[in-house]
Amino acid sequence: MPETTVPTSSPNVPKLELDHVSVTYTTRSGDSVEAVRDMSLRIEDKPGVGEIVVFLGPSGCGKSTVLKCVAGLHLPTKGRVLNDGKVVEGTSGDRAMVFQTYTSFAWLTVQGNVEYGMRLAGVPKDERETRAKEALKQVGLADFGKRYPKELSGGMKQRVAIARTIVNRPRLILMDEPFGALDPQTRWDMQSRLLDISRVADNTILFVTHDVSEAVYLADTVYVLSSRPAQIRERVDVPIFADRSIKLKQTPQFREVESHLMELLHGELSSVRVG
Ligand SMILES: Nc1ncnc2c1ncn2[C@@H]1O[C@H](COP(=O)(O)OP(=O)(O)OP(=O)(O)O)[C@@H](O)[C@H]1O
Ligand SMILES: [Mg+2]
Repeated sequence: MPETTVPTSSPNVPKLELDHVSVTYTTRSGDSVEAVRDMSLRIEDKPGVGEIVVFLGPSGCGKSTVLKCVAGLHLPTKGRVLNDGKVVEGTSGDRAMVFQTYTSFAWLTVQGNVEYGMRLAGVPKDERETRAKEALKQVGLADFGKRYPKELSGGMKQRVAIARTIVNRPRLILMDEPFGALDPQTRWDMQSRLLDISRVADNTILFVTHDVSEAVYLADTVYVLSSRPAQIRERVDVPIFADRSIKLKQTPQFREVESHLMELLHGELSSVRVG
């Protein structure tokens, strides 16, 4: 039967849909671990608009599992994930993942790392170089193209990973606690850079974190997840703050959203920790 193609810009086709997704792992010893239970959500396609959707949930709740299902690295036990109306059955260049740990190739320069995916895709040399330089500039590494990853700090390595992802212009970028290992100052800097990147690109970033302040600062929408098995506890639309600078975190408006999310999350944590 021919595949039905639905135009990606159609208002009726969401960019991403989770349709009753459940995931249960079977461990080597044969035990079942239920990681995600009956999760459904829709992220609408907004052509020309960059958007950040955050999954906020306690440690071990199933956040990475959700992201892996969206990436096509793991298939749901029940339900389906649809990207632009098509069922996700494996990985695709349209959905790129940035992991928490740095994943650069040690034997390639920074520029070589950023060009790597384009090289595999057969992008001509001149175009590769231009696009890689542009991406490095966006993450603040314009002068570091000739360095090797081992010569960079943790924050800079993570910027290489982000440059390597955005240079391929995926429509969906999946970020799994990418700033978790960074010191607070670097983390803050990276959050601001990510906002700048998302504002100029027509893509959706799915961002996983357990940090409430990070969620409020970055998100257009936050899905608060329950403890394991992950279920959507609440969807919170974050108001558009006119000024996303360091001062913002001190404002009553920011604090209000933060404390609402904190309550939802802590309600979860206390329910897990009883006993
Ligand atoms: N391949 C696997 N086999 C068996 N169990 C797994 C596997 N991967 C994850 N799990 C279990 O599923 C649950 C959810 O894991 P997951 O990594 O999705 O959580 P998380 O919210 O990302 O955790 P963290 O906050 O620590 O990153 C955990 O109990 C974990 O031990
Ligand atoms: Mg995880």
